Amino acid sequence: MKHHDVIIIGAGAAGLMCAATAGYRGRDVLVLDNAKQAGRKILISGGGRCNFTNQKVEPNNFICSNAHFVKSALARYRSSDFIELVERHGIEYHERDHGQLFCDDSAKEIVTMLLTECEWAGVQIKLRTEISEIGQNEQGQFELITDKEHYTCDSLVMATGGLSMPKLGASPYGYHIAKQFGLKLLPTHAGLVPFTWHSEQKLKFEPLSGIAVPSTITAKDGTQFSEALLFTHRGLSGPAILQISNFWKAGETISINLLPGVDARAAIELVLANHSKQSLRNTLSHWLPKRLVEALFDETLLNKAMNQLIHSELEQLAVDLESWEILMNGTEGYRTAEVTLGGVDTDELSSKTMEAKSVSGLYFIGEVMDVSGWLGGFNFQWAWSSGVAAGQAV
Ligand code: FDA
Repeated sequence: MKHHDVIIIGAGAAGLMCAATAGYRGRDVLVLDNAKQAGRKILISGGGRCNFTNQKVEPNNFICSNAHFVKSALARYRSSDFIELVERHGIEYHERDHGQLFCDDSAKEIVTMLLTECEWAGVQIKLRTEISEIGQNEQGQFELITDKEHYTCDSLVMATGGLSMPKLGASPYGYHIAKQFGLKLLPTHAGLVPFTWHSEQKLKFEPLSGIAVPSTITAKDGTQFSEALLFTHRGLSGPAILQISNFWKAGETISINLLPGVDARAAIELVLANHSKQSLRNTLSHWLPKRLVEALFDETLLNKAMNQLIHSELEQLAVDLESWEILMNGTEGYRTAEVTLGGVDTDELSSKTMEAKSVSGLYFIGEVMDVSGWLGGFNFQWAWSSGVAAGQAV
């Protein structure tokens, strides 16, 4: 058996950050991963440019059954700390809407930076390693049996991520280990994920695939996002939908405002006052793509002049434009989801160190726990912050 102070399972965002932090503290750290490459999700993130953090990170950008849990780690390792690290490695970056920071060149630079930090901190990383069993000996050390070697360690960090994108190696292993050690798990769901059509909606809306419009979308709990809405072959996507999917529950409708920032009733009144003979089709085509107008509204109604529409029709028109209630079939699931909601219950963990309250030396960091961020670099920031919190404690 080879002994290490710290073994981290998962060479992803959180695991690598934790490893470097612990290594710089002089801990003997080994990272194990069953994948053939470290940081695979980082490599494909942000369309290959990795939205590595956000200029403005607040606790309310995260979904967690205990809203206070994220505060300590986020306050002790801020987005400005990660930005400083990125700058020290000479990585060029830029800001997009809503404070999102992306690499100018490639997400590969973030992985290289983390691996370099691990190397400088003396961390060993072993990829393509299957862990078949984890137990604890009489001294309270963890024992790991892998397909290559057997190890013991004083601190074991689970950084195995969530269930999203199984083709990239996502696995429920972290949940199995939590369960094995008696920790409570909260139900998991796909998050930051596109919605799918019911079959009759698909017939009607599939031809709109590729159309993107500004929107404000509201979930049943009142959460609202104003971003682009994208029609796809399978359903609805785009940043507004990905954001709202984190707050949506099966069977609930979402409400879409297709004219964000516009008072639809006032806009209709204006057309009635100045262009009363204009058809409804032409009126709407000034506001929305023509194909969307044709799909959303009845042909006979569209052919009417504005002054032929009765009061109830005008009222319904305003409602349809400002709060189009739509019941989607479901989501595309873990296959395309960016994150997993739920996971290891944070009530079981210390918010300062990420250590399990009931199992000394066992830590959970990153996406494996019940913390998910909004779209916009928040999920990586949680990986960095929780990784550093554990790295300072192991
Ligand atoms: P992560 O998934 O990064 O790492 C887990 C590691 O554990 C992997 O290396 C895996 O191989 C390993 N592992 C799993 N099971 C194992 C086992 N049984 N044995 C050994 N090793 C095992 N976020 C963001 O903030 N900005 C962005 O731009 C994006 N973009 C994005 C795009 C796409 C397509 C996806 C799917 C996700 C994003 N995200 C994102 C989310 C972000 O990638 C995610 O939140 C973090 O990678 C989570 O970091 P972790 O280290 O917790 O898990």
